[in-house]
Amino acid sequence: MKILFSSNPSKQVDAIAVGVYHDNELTKAAKDIDQQSSGAISRAIKASHFTGKTKDVLLINTPQGLESNRIVLVGLGDSNKINEQQLTTLGGSIIIALGTLPDKTLEIRIDEFTATGLTVAEAQANIAVGAYLRSWRFDKYRTQEKDEDKPHLKQITLIVSNPEVCESTFVNLQKVVEGALFARKLVTEPANTITPETLAEEAQSLSKLGVKVEVLGEKKLKALGARALLGVGQGSDKESQLVVMQWMGADKNQQPIAFVGKGVTFDSGGLSIKTSVGMEEMKFDMAGSGVVIGLMQALAGRKAKVNAIGVVGLVENMPSGTAQRPGDVVKSMSGQTIEILNTDAEGRLVLADALWYTQDRFKPQIMVNLATLTGAIIIALGHEYAGLFSNDDQLAKKLIECGNKVGEKVWRFPLHENYDKDIESNIADMKNIGDGRNAGSISAAIFLQKFVNKIPWAHLDIAGVAWSDKDLPISEKGATAFGVRLLDRLVRDHYEAA
Ligand code: BES
Ligand code: MN
Ligand code: ZN
Repeated sequence: MKILFSSNPSKQVDAIAVGVYHDNELTKAAKDIDQQSSGAISRAIKASHFTGKTKDVLLINTPQGLESNRIVLVGLGDSNKINEQQLTTLGGSIIIALGTLPDKTLEIRIDEFTATGLTVAEAQANIAVGAYLRSWRFDKYRTQEKDEDKPHLKQITLIVSNPEVCESTFVNLQKVVEGALFARKLVTEPANTITPETLAEEAQSLSKLGVKVEVLGEKKLKALGARALLGVGQGSDKESQLVVMQWMGADKNQQPIAFVGKGVTFDSGGLSIKTSVGMEEMKFDMAGSGVVIGLMQALAGRKAKVNAIGVVGLVENMPSGTAQRPGDVVKSMSGQTIEILNTDAEGRLVLADALWYTQDRFKPQIMVNLATLTGAIIIALGHEYAGLFSNDDQLAKKLIECGNKVGEKVWRFPLHENYDKDIESNIADMKNIGDGRNAGSISAAIFLQKFVNKIPWAHLDIAGVAWSDKDLPISEKGATAFGVRLLDRLVRDHYEAA
C-alpha cells in the first residue's frame, strides 16, 4: 500500500473519505462534497441510521456531480474527545468499507478535529497507520482468486494542510507498521515453510538494517548446557536454534533492554500429543518470536535511540523415537533441573534457557518475554487482553499504559510465592506443569520466574491475542502481531534518548 500526504485534493480519485461529527454535523470537507454532489451526503444520511458517532461508516455510491466512484462517510463522534486508538480504528474502518470494490485510489479528507493528546500530524499519521495495518493480507498461496474477491486499493492520500509535517511523523510509525506486517507474515506462514532454520534465516534478514544477528545451532547450545530448550526439539528432524539480535542505536555504554520470544514453529504436543481438532493452529506457536523479530525490525527501521536485544528460542515440538518422554529430567542452562511431566508444556522449557541466556550475557535493564504459553489464559481473558506477569510494579504499569494507548491491552495477574508449591517436583528442582487445571497461566509464569534473577522482568502470555478467527478493526482475521506496537511504544515512551 502506498501512503501519501498532500494539500491538494484531486478530482480523479476513486473514493473520497470525509468526516461527520456527532449528530450529523458535517465537517468542512463533507460540506464541500455535499455541495458538489447536489446534497448526496445529506440525503444519504437521512436515508440511513448514520449519526456521526465513532465507528459509524456509510458508503455513498456513484454520487452525481463527482468523478469519484464513491464517498465514504466516517463518524468522528465528539470531535475533541477522539483518541489515538479511535483514529487507527477509523483508518481501518475505511478499508473495511471499501472491501473488494474496484476503487484503486482513496483520498482521506479528515483534517479538522483536535484529538486528545495528539498533534494534528500525529492524528493524521494514526489514521494512516490503521488503514495500512487493516489493508494487509496474506494471499501468497492463493492462485485462483477471482478479481471480485480481491481488494483493489493501491494508494491512500491523506489531504492535510501540512503534508511535510504529517509525512515526517508518519515515516517512523510506518517502520513500526512494517515490523508488525513482517511479524504477521512470519506467523501466518505454515509450519512446512517456517521451521526453526528458516525462521532463523528470516531473522538474519535484519542484518541489512544494521542489526547484528547471531544464530546458535544445536552444537553451541549443547556446549552452553541449554538442555531444557534442546529437549523440546529433540523429537524433530529440524535443528533447534537460538537467535540473538542486537540493535545498538544508543551510546555503547548504555545498558540494553531485552525482548525474548517463544518460537515453537509447530507444537504437536510431542508425546503428550494434542488432539487433532485444531492442531493446525499450533503453527502460530512461534508468535512470540515473530513479534520479537518484527519489533527488532521496527526499532532498527526507525533507528530508535536505544540498545535493544532480541532473543528467540526456535524449536519444533514433535513426537518420534527420539522425542522427550514424560518423566524425563533435564538440566537447564541455569543449572536447575526440571522434571517433564507433560511434553506439551514446552514453551516454558524453551524460555527457561532463552531467558537465562539473555540476562546472563547482556545484563539488561529490563527483560520482557512474549509467548503463546497457555490455553488457560484464553479461558481467563478470551481474545481481548494478553496476560501480564511481572516482578516489577513500574514496568507493569508502563506496559499497561502503553497497551491502552496503542490498543494492545494487557491485564496483570499475580505472581505470589504461595504458587511456588504448584510446581514442586518429587524428583527434581521443579516440574513443568502446575496443580491440575488450577491457575495454569500463573504456574507457567511462576516457572519462568525461576529463570530470571533480580532484574525487572515481564512475561506477556499472548496465546489469546496472537491470532484472531474473526476480522478485527485493524487486522484481517489471522495473525495480529500483537506486541510489536505495544513494545515499540514502551521503548519510545520510556527507554529512548530524546
Ligand atoms: N502452545 C500451547 C498453548 C496454546 C494453546 C497457545 C492454545 C495458543 C492456543 C502450549 O504449549 C501448551 O500446549 N500449553 C498447555 C500446557 C499444559 C500441558 C500444562 C495448555 O495450555 O494446555
Ligand atoms: Mn504445548
Ligand atoms: Zn506451545
